[in-house]
Amino acid sequence: MACWSCFITKKKQPLFWGKETRLEKSQALQDGEIWYLSLDKETGCGFQTKQKYRFGWFSMKLKLVGGDSAGVVTAYYMCTENGAGPERDELDFEFLGNRSGQPYLIQTNVYKNGTGGREMRHMLWFDPTEDFHTYSILWNNHQIVFFADKVPIRVFKNNGEANNFFPNEKPMYLFSSIWNADEWATRGGLEKTDWKKAPFVSSYRDFNVDGCQWEDPYPACVSTTTKNWWDQYDAWHLSDAQKMDYAWIQRNLVIYDYCKDSERYPTLPVECPLSPWE
Ligand SMILES: *[C@@H]1O[C@H](CO)[C@@H](O)[C@H](O)[C@H]1NC(C)=O
Repeated sequence: MACWSCFITKKKQPLFWGKETRLEKSQALQDGEIWYLSLDKETGCGFQTKQKYRFGWFSMKLKLVGGDSAGVVTAYYMCTENGAGPERDELDFEFLGNRSGQPYLIQTNVYKNGTGGREMRHMLWFDPTEDFHTYSILWNNHQIVFFADKVPIRVFKNNGEANNFFPNEKPMYLFSSIWNADEWATRGGLEKTDWKKAPFVSSYRDFNVDGCQWEDPYPACVSTTTKNWWDQYDAWHLSDAQKMDYAWIQRNLVIYDYCKDSERYPTLPVECPLSPWE
């Protein structure tokens, strides 16, 4: 079972101002147990796994801040480092809060060697504040797939060559945090956080990892096609049923795709032509 430790932060990544800001608590999330992360004007909060992983299936149930949550971002992500280091790899789910009754957006992003800028934004087909929903990442050497309730919402492919877009070398920790991003998150920063509504609370349960736990020294977690299901042929691409779901998501719920943003990227990044259907 994964062990977590807690931190206090003002941003997405942990901040260590001194000893007292790092909570002493370090424990495992038991089955059925619920953890709460809360944000007020002074501090956000987060937790991370003690272990690192390379490739696998990483899944957690989240129930997001309800009511007026404009400006509040709940992040659930994997990262090779504890901080925002310049060489980090990262896989992100970010849930962008909104005014009461307005829809949350889910933003995903992929970093390799410190470079991100690969955002996609989706609407959801359910209210993520009403109940727990499962958010998962499948990661192998061929693809990274972001799921909401087992529906693939984003597929990020490797091209089988040495490249600077697909994170596959370094192991990652898993993190979650809640923080204030009202300078950009909701309607591009137009909607400010209403601190009268604080504290903002997100809830977590049922962390589930079926992946390779990294142990120094290298080489641990080498992907072989014989050992683990997440490295095997079936996990290299979507199944036929998943393709149907994914096509529906693509048609109906994509709000933003960096690969379609030719104003921002006059030359589209090299990974953009890779087909999610293969
Ligand atoms: C918040 O609601 C507005 C109005 O419905 C919408 O345009 C926006 O995309 C929503 N989400 C965010 C994160 O701004």
